[in-house]
Amino acid sequence: MKKQRVLTGITTSGSPHLGNYAGAIRPAIEASWHAGVESFYFLADYHALVKVQDPVRVQRSTLEIAASWLAAGLDPNKVWFYRQSDIPEIPELTWLLTCVAGKGQLNRAHAYKAAVDRNLAENEDPDAGINAGLFMYPVLMAADILMFGAHRVPVGRDQVQHIEMARDFAARFNHIYGEHFVLPTAAVEDNVATLPGLDGRKMSKSYDNTIPLFAAPSDLKKLIFSIVTDSRAPGEAKATEGSAVFQIYQAFASGEETASMAEAFAEGIGWGDAKQALFEVVDRQVAPMRDRYQALIDQPIEIEAVLREGAIKARSIAVPFIAELRQAVGLRDLRELPRVSRSAGAGADVAGSAKQASFKQYRDVDGKFYFKLLNAEGRQLLQSLGHTSARDVGQLIARLKRGLDDGLRHVPEVGLHLGSEVLGVMAEDVELKDVLEALATFAE
Ligand code: TRP
Repeated sequence: MKKQRVLTGITTSGSPHLGNYAGAIRPAIEASWHAGVESFYFLADYHALVKVQDPVRVQRSTLEIAASWLAAGLDPNKVWFYRQSDIPEIPELTWLLTCVAGKGQLNRAHAYKAAVDRNLAENEDPDAGINAGLFMYPVLMAADILMFGAHRVPVGRDQVQHIEMARDFAARFNHIYGEHFVLPTAAVEDNVATLPGLDGRKMSKSYDNTIPLFAAPSDLKKLIFSIVTDSRAPGEAKATEGSAVFQIYQAFASGEETASMAEAFAEGIGWGDAKQALFEVVDRQVAPMRDRYQALIDQPIEIEAVLREGAIKARSIAVPFIAELRQAVGLRDLRELPRVSRSAGAGADVAGSAKQASFKQYRDVDGKFYFKLLNAEGRQLLQSLGHTSARDVGQLIARLKRGLDDGLRHVPEVGLHLGSEVLGVMAEDVELKDVLEALATFAE
């Protein structure tokens, strides 16, 4: 069975904080260890440009986020780890999807709609100050996901709508052009911690209440001591519920430690002691990563090399897939026009031989490998697409000869599909049943 593909993007618009670590980095790295999944994690730097127009910050954030994931234990040999802007096929796919995306649907995307609503509340033009990148954001995100055939996309609740849109665009494209895309589902991990920030609201760049993941120990301590608490004095029982100190503690401590901290709360531990204990559990987990992080940050050459490797790997999927999609929508090599009667006359040399269809394999002037399917009378039924290796053509033919349940479909204007793969185009006046008939002669 094909492996489950899990994919998620990290926008490179800031510095990683404890909330990113507990809510995204740590669970993603743990998930990447499971057998049976292929994990795709990438730096969404095109997305960053929607919000951040400071080039130095975009670059710095890319470095810091890449270093954080690597320092936290991501193994680039086990997963697909790359930078979005290294894959030019992603913006190319964005355009193909743009042309099937409903504008009205994009109007309703939460982030865009919220920006419009803010303008309306201030009696401004609805689109004042809104760049088209914000509007197109969901399409770019859909391209990220659909390019790699992701089945599952772990995201925060705020991103679920985007995954649903990706599904819609994919379904619409498939409906028009044939089955090319996997329909992804959002995976909102409920057991993953959402950490509160310094002020008790969700830890987030936009609230300016974050604790940087790799703050120096003295700064980490200072920040932890500045987390809001109620005014209960030492000795007074404290509620764990709604306590930012307790929630962050829980995300970094063992189950046992958490249980004894809950007891300590009931018994009236002082806030100073609770914060000291919090600092210790956080630092215990972060300290070893902090050293690796520093070493990595000091070696941008190495991080760059890791990302370029990753891009080569990712493009081994993206390049052939975009070629398939270009073919599907009609951005085609003009030499691949369905060739008609020219070869239909070639029947002469086959006539009289055994009543069996045949495949003709050849290499064309473009250096690619092709095949044709001829029926028992030598009439050309099918002209394949070009392949980069003769082996691929051989395997495809072997598959066709072996017989195919009902995996063969004809998609008008596109051609003949085997599963999600476009095989090629049928000659004029040829019908699917002619192809099936010819293939059946191999089964005999
Ligand atoms: N929009 C996502 C966020 O802000 C980041 C992202 C970009 C993403 N492309 C993606 C997430 C593809 C999942 C899949 O969190």
